[in-house]
Amino acid sequence: MFKIPKMKILLIGTLLTTIGIVGCQTGGGYGYSSGGPIDEASVGIGADGVFNDPSPSTFEFPTTKTGESDRITKSYHTAPPMVAHTFVEYLPITMENNECMECHDKPKLIDREYIKGKKLAMSSDHYGGFGGRGDKDEVSGSHYTCTTCHAPASDAQPLVDNTF
Ligand code: HEC
Ligand code: HEC
Repeated sequence: MFKIPKMKILLIGTLLTTIGIVGCQTGGGYGYSSGGPIDEASVGIGADGVFNDPSPSTFEFPTTKTGESDRITKSYHTAPPMVAHTFVEYLPITMENNECMECHDKPKLIDREYIKGKKLAMSSDHYGGFGGRGDKDEVSGSHYTCTTCHAPASDAQPLVDNTF
């Protein structure tokens, strides 16, 4: 049977440990270099660092009823649109019950031009099983839990300016 001599194991072990230590000192795979301690005020996204207890202003979720809200302009082309109407009363979404679908599962209305106050169908890519290869009339499993992608719009002020 082939045996690795003990001396070799010891040498390889020492070599790996050295690489590890050098790696840590230079910041290694983490993509930063250690240039001394970091001031606590420059850690975190707030102006005062992470040790302050910020009290952001409270905010409300929409109180506009369905059929009365205005659609919100998307931040970018492929973004899931935000929901401008009341939201929590239709939650939770469970295996047996999805109230969102009672209004939005309207395959016949897909591509109909939106008219304010009328029903709004979710788009065709919400159907057809995972990857669109399943039943075209059924909501795809990947789109069943609407709240994964659609969030209610609130009047919350951003804590940090968005530069995206
Ligand atoms: C009682 C019917 C009804 C229910 C229930 C309902 N919606 Fe809506 N939804 C609407 C209508 C109507 C609109 C169009 C805007 C309006 O008229 O308020 C809309 C708009 C939207 C939009 C905006 C689409 C866009 O392009 O701007 C999204 C997203 C949405 N709803 C998701 C949801 C989700 C998620 C749920 C469940 C938490 C839900 N809706 C429950 C009727 C409903
Ligand atoms: C995986 C993310 C995702 C999930 C989950 C999802 N959606 Fe969407 N939804 C989108 C995206 C992205 C769009 C915009 C692009 C498009 O039309 O597909 C959209 C568009 C919509 C629209 C507007 C359609 C239009 O004509 O402009 C409605 C209404 C909607 N979704 C409702 C729902 C409802 C209700 C559910 C749950 C049954 C749901 N969505 C689940 C991502 C998602």
